[in-house]
Amino acid sequence: MSHLGRFITLEGGEAAGKSTQIARLAERLRRQGRSVLELREPGGTPLGEKIRHLLKHDPDGRGMSPETELLLMNASRAELVRQRILPALQSGQIVLCDRFYDSTVAYQGFGRGLDLAAVQSVIQLAVGGLQPDRTLWLDVAPEIARTRLAGRQAAQATSEPSDRFDEEQEAFFARVAQGFREAFHAEPDRWRHVDAGGSLECVEEAVWSAVSNLF
Ligand code: TMP
Repeated sequence: MSHLGRFITLEGGEAAGKSTQIARLAERLRRQGRSVLELREPGGTPLGEKIRHLLKHDPDGRGMSPETELLLMNASRAELVRQRILPALQSGQIVLCDRFYDSTVAYQGFGRGLDLAAVQSVIQLAVGGLQPDRTLWLDVAPEIARTRLAGRQAAQATSEPSDRFDEEQEAFFARVAQGFREAFHAEPDRWRHVDAGGSLECVEEAVWSAVSNLF
């Protein structure tokens, strides 16, 4: 599917620093005079944000089946693609998205163990052939992610409801990481690996090197 703009997605496990790096990349591109749209998944539309709440925080979402989780992620995605991503790309904007369909492969496919062919067909229904121009895998060692996550959870303990995904066990996150690894190796032209264990400034530079040839 061709478009005028550029579509860049950031992927990785919990506490890899994706949202911070998206904000920094967006700022850098805007300083160059480019028009940038920052989005996140699940979410990014009014309906998608409600679905995000169901998926992450709503007590009624506790214990939902992996199949429900797959469909809700992709319901949010179907809205985001049609309401926000495609119009922005067609008008020549740069779209930066915090997670996209590779997260579904990693979390619902590898993490939850759903059939990968079924996962792919639901994704295709949701995105209708749209692919990112570039996908960055912000990769951070499990020990660093654990420490960052513990800090984040302590800071949020009083202000935010608990997050169903943050409460998953280590084995789940190991399967998710394997999912990103395999997706990365399967499409080396689209993907770039970014070591996300360093300082914010180091990671920002690595992110920039991974996307700058698109402009
Ligand atoms: P985050 O915005 O803090 O990364 O939270 C989103 C959570 O949703 C995160 O734990 C990963 C998970 N997720 C999936 O399981 N599948 C998906 O397709 C997407 C986009 C996110």
